[in-house]
Amino acid sequence: MTQLAPGFLWGASTAPHQIEGNNLNSDFWASEGRVPGMERSGDACDSYHRYREDMRLLADAGLGAYRFGIEWARIEPVPGLVSRAELAHYRRMIETAFELGLTPVVTLHHFTSPLWFAQEGGWMDDHAIDRFRAYVETVSPILDGVEWVVTMNEPNMLAIMVYMARAMQDQQAAGEWQSPTLDNEGPRPALPAPDTAIGERLVEAHHAAREALRERTGAKVGWTVANRAFVARPGAEDKKRELEHVWEDLYLEAARGDDFVGVQSYSSQWVGPDGIEPHPQHPDNTLVGTAYRPDALGIAVRHTSEVTGGMPILVTENGIATHDDTRRIAYTGESLEHLGKAIADGVDVRGYLHWSLLDNYEWGHWEPAFGLVAVDRETFERRPKPSLAWLGATARQGRI
Ligand code: FCB
Repeated sequence: MTQLAPGFLWGASTAPHQIEGNNLNSDFWASEGRVPGMERSGDACDSYHRYREDMRLLADAGLGAYRFGIEWARIEPVPGLVSRAELAHYRRMIETAFELGLTPVVTLHHFTSPLWFAQEGGWMDDHAIDRFRAYVETVSPILDGVEWVVTMNEPNMLAIMVYMARAMQDQQAAGEWQSPTLDNEGPRPALPAPDTAIGERLVEAHHAAREALRERTGAKVGWTVANRAFVARPGAEDKKRELEHVWEDLYLEAARGDDFVGVQSYSSQWVGPDGIEPHPQHPDNTLVGTAYRPDALGIAVRHTSEVTGGMPILVTENGIATHDDTRRIAYTGESLEHLGKAIADGVDVRGYLHWSLLDNYEWGHWEPAFGLVAVDRETFERRPKPSLAWLGATARQGRI
């Protein structure tokens, strides 16, 4: 048994576009209607209206933290026009979390941007940093009392999405949409590595947001990085280091000076002399094509701690896409064991937030089921799965 840091957060994560519904002014909503092979998010889980019910499920299960996001496209639907009503909406969400005894972990950007921002040239446009900073300044007042703020979710995956969106506009990309959160399998083209020029721009955006938040709030500020938990085949150590740099370390190194870093881990991949090896075909592979690798979380937090010089870590996402909830419990239990061992070895972990509270819209696809709670897509009825109560009971033990 591993003792946990005092105030260790136990909870679950979500993202606005994946659960709220009708995110009409966002760039992702626009591409859903345009790109072949993409399902629409539509009403999603209608969490825009049902957030109190979602939070209550979490609190009633005995969990103490909820990670959710603020949607830029709602706050600023056209450049410079700030919606007071939407600011009030997100403030109500934060207050509801406090009321229910939940610690909010608030994400300011989770893949989606306003459509106008994308049309202006997106993250590579000259105005991008000023635009993002202005948005962060606008939302700062409603963050009063919030202890944990994530400026940006998975800039490394966002760099791939930005690159793909540009390639599609240039008509260079053939074939159907594939979410970068679904792993490449079969005939699909391999994902491009995150583009380092885009990555460096996102680093700049993060640092600008961090500065704005530090001037205006008392929150701990960080960002979250998708971790691929690469493992080198004998002789492929240099290749692994090279890939780690573009996939993760550029973003982890940029986290130095933050108050914490978010680790997001799902699976692990071998690196051979020629690069990343595709996930081997196996009956245990998840609904997004990744290998069943609960050891990934231990690898991810250890690597993150090493690269950031021992920074405080929040596990901001960890989970499995499966329709079999007993597999979810098994995966999560094993992941926590690996996390416990890393903590025992001195990795400074401050919380575990499971992805995800709800079965939700997985970036173009509805099939992958990551939720602790199922959602009826017609009635929006929430049906907690056994894994929700299981995670709550695990949290109440206060140790791993
Ligand atoms: C992560 C994303 C999250 C979700 C999970 C499955 O890359 O941050 O929104 O899609 O993967």
